[in-house]
Amino acid sequence: MFCHVKELQFDVHVEEPDPRFASLLLEQFGGGNGELKAAMQYFVQAFSCRKPYPEKYDLLMDIATEELSHLEIVGATITMLLDGINGELKDAANNVEWVDIMNDNAKKEQFIHEAVMDPQFLSLSGGGPKLSDSQGNPWTANYVTANGDPTVDLRSNIAAESRAKIVYEYLMQFTDDPGVKDTLGFLMTREIAHFKQFQAALEDIQPNFPPGVLQGDPRFTHKYFNMSNGEDVRGPWNQGQGPWQNGEQWEYIEDPVNQVVSSQGQKSAKAGGDKKSSKEAKKKSQELSKQRSQEIKQSMSKKGKNWSDYSASRASQPGSPSGDRDKPRQRPS
Ligand SMILES: [Fe+2]
Repeated sequence: MFCHVKELQFDVHVEEPDPRFASLLLEQFGGGNGELKAAMQYFVQAFSCRKPYPEKYDLLMDIATEELSHLEIVGATITMLLDGINGELKDAANNVEWVDIMNDNAKKEQFIHEAVMDPQFLSLSGGGPKLSDSQGNPWTANYVTANGDPTVDLRSNIAAESRAKIVYEYLMQFTDDPGVKDTLGFLMTREIAHFKQFQAALEDIQPNFPPGVLQGDPRFTHKYFNMSNGEDVRGPWNQGQGPWQNGEQWEYIEDPVNQVVSSQGQKSAKAGGDKKSSKEAKKKSQELSKQRSQEIKQSMSKKGKNWSDYSASRASQPGSPSGDRDKPRQRPS
C-alpha cells in the first residue's frame, strides 16, 4: 500500500518563474530517463522478486517509492517555475496581459516564444507539469525495461541511474536559479546512491555473470573479431586476461574473414581463451538452471496463496509509528 506524505523529500525553493527551464525540466518528469520511468521500472521489476528474493523486492520497492518522491519534487519545481500562469489563464474573460508574471519585456518575449514552441504545455496543463518529455512526446511504457531476471534487471537499473544522473548534470547548466540548482543537485546525487545500491545488490547474487542462467559457448565467449581495417587499438577489451578470471584471456582474431572461411562458418572453431570445455559449460548451465528454478519453486506455496503476512506486520497500535519498523531484518543467507 502507499500513503502520501504531504511534505517533499527535499524542500524546493524557486527564485522566480522560468517557463523555459520548466519546459526543459519536463524531461525528468515524463521523459525517457525521467523519474516516472525509473519509478515504474523498479515497481514492475519488484513483483517477480516478492517471494523468491524478498530482499531484492524490498530494495526495488524502496527505490521505486523514492523515485515517485522525486517525481513529486520535479513536478513541484515545474509548477513553481510556472507560478502565476494558471491564475492568468483562469482570468479568461479579461484576457489579461502576461506582464504581471514576467517582470520585464525580455522575459515576456521569451515566455511567448516558449508558448509558441510548445503551446500544449500551457494550453493543456495550465501551469502544471504534464507527462511528456521536453519536446512534448507523451510518456510511454516503452521506456520501462523489466525482464524477470534480477541479474538482468539490476544491470538495466544501473544503466537507467547513469542516464538519469547525466541528464540532471546537463540540466544544471541551463538554470542560474540557486534554489533550482540545489534541488537538481540533490536529485542527481540520489541517482549516484541508487547506482551503488543496485550495484551492491547485483554483487550479492552469485554467480551473476553471464546475465541469466545459460553459459556461453566457450568457443566464442573470449574471441575478439577485428572487424575494421586501418589502425587497430589493443586494450583490456581485446588483449590479455582483461576482465576474465585467472588462466583465461581474450583471443584476438586478426583476420575475421579468414577465420570464418577456415572454420567453415565457426563449425570447426576452437575455444582460444576460455579454459572451460563445452561439456563443463553445459554442466554449469544445468546446475545453475536447477538452482535458480529451485529458488523460485521453493518460494511458491502449492495452494491457498496470500501476498501479505499480516501476523508479521509492523503496526503495533493504530496511529502509532509502525511497531518493529525500525528494526531492519537481515537478508536471509
Ligand atoms: Fe534514481
